[in-house]
Amino acid sequence: MKISVIGTGYVGLVTGACFAKLGHQVTCVDLDEHKLHQINDGKSPIYEEGLDEILTTYHHNIRATSDTESAIQVTEMTFLCVGTPSHDDGSIDLSSVKKATEHMARALHKKSSWHLVIVKSTVIPGTSQNIVLPLLEKHSGKKAGKDFGVAMNPEFLKEGVAIQDFLKPDRIVIGYYDEKSRDMLRQLYTPFSCPIVETSLSAAEMIKYASNAFLATKISFINEIGNLCKNLNIDTYAVAEGMGFDKRIGRAFLDSGIGWGGSCFPKDIDALIAWAKQMKEPVRIIENAKTVNTDQPLRLVKILQKHIPKLKGKTIGVLGLAFKPDTDDIRESRAIPIVKELLRNGARIKAYDPQAMENFKTLFPTIEYCHSASDVLSADAILITTKWKEFMMLNYQGKIVIDGRRLEQAKNATIYEGVCW
Ligand SMILES: NC(=O)c1ccc[n+]([C@@H]2O[C@H](COP(=O)([O-])OP(=O)(O)OC[C@H]3O[C@@H](n4cnc5c(N)ncnc54)[C@H](O)[C@@H]3O)[C@@H](O)[C@H]2O)c1
Repeated sequence: MKISVIGTGYVGLVTGACFAKLGHQVTCVDLDEHKLHQINDGKSPIYEEGLDEILTTYHHNIRATSDTESAIQVTEMTFLCVGTPSHDDGSIDLSSVKKATEHMARALHKKSSWHLVIVKSTVIPGTSQNIVLPLLEKHSGKKAGKDFGVAMNPEFLKEGVAIQDFLKPDRIVIGYYDEKSRDMLRQLYTPFSCPIVETSLSAAEMIKYASNAFLATKISFINEIGNLCKNLNIDTYAVAEGMGFDKRIGRAFLDSGIGWGGSCFPKDIDALIAWAKQMKEPVRIIENAKTVNTDQPLRLVKILQKHIPKLKGKTIGVLGLAFKPDTDDIRESRAIPIVKELLRNGARIKAYDPQAMENFKTLFPTIEYCHSASDVLSADAILITTKWKEFMMLNYQGKIVIDGRRLEQAKNATIYEGVCW
């Protein structure tokens, strides 16, 4: 099939690359010329395992442009994958979605054949039906369900294993306005062997929010259990294992630590809370999951202060700046509030991350960035904030280590404490 993707960030680029790998002709659209050049040169603008290889190998199936109109003209369907960040009050900022939709609609106006528009960005329930669809009709002068189709296909990939998640998902959700759109997506996803859930546009949008909110709550839940366990000298990970064998619970997302970050959970949870408030149906469990997550990273610094009460003038090593391993993404990384708190207490910081230092420098240009993980070990104490594999190779003997991510190897430190175990 001929597919266009608008917005080539983590989701859009992975979507485009994977469909190119599956043999489709893909046109990627973005406003960022630098990204477009990189993609056309077969290089990924983001660090994601396997992406460079796909872009090089399937170069003939993928091209990048800033021209939405030509992309719509030469393709049969368009995935809308632009960012949906938060406003200051936490509510969803749909400005990119609206702008990209208007561009698409103007292009549809000039197109004679039927076209399918698929919202893949995470959007508050009702957005595809009540915002995207009317904007498409208004600026194209055409009728949804007759001249063009509308669908909503949320994305569940995880950064770091995005290619694998995209190609082998647990499920695919197809929200559709009209049957022709549903049938076209069914056909597109034929090679995928997972269950396919077909539903309304708004239910598809809600499935994405409910899934993220549930997973974030599961992590905050085990972190609170962990905080309790730590007081009682109980091994939280043994508790997680014991709980995880229960099929109703499952072991995934029961790794207690310093909490969740990233480009999705924090902003999606904020958007859900703000939307629920607007609907006068507060989501109290989710609000509290957020509160737990705000407090959790600061516990790492409090534990550090048990061993080094005055941080002023001390050098603290921070191992890991990305919000999780195998990505360079630092959005809402738990290392951010930790570094802020250390600086507020007058500590000097030596930090290292295998991929995320350049991104972190944009937020904290003046802290010291090390050339290797072992350089961090000369600090007065070390905090482990991201579970990168290479941190497992270090020798922590003779060190003070406060661990936010349960790195077994760090337990041989002279002084070792886990954040909630
Ligand atoms: N990152 C993830 O792990 C993930 C997972 C699932 C769902 N999502 C959702 O997918 C959506 C995209 O997320 P992301 O992380 O890929 O975002 P991103 O910020 O990495 O990328 C968005 C891209 O859209 C481009 N863009 C913005 N406005 C545009 C326009 N009018 N025309 C063309 N391009 C435009 C930007 O330049 C950028 O390259 C969000 O709604 C997000 O919540 C993200």
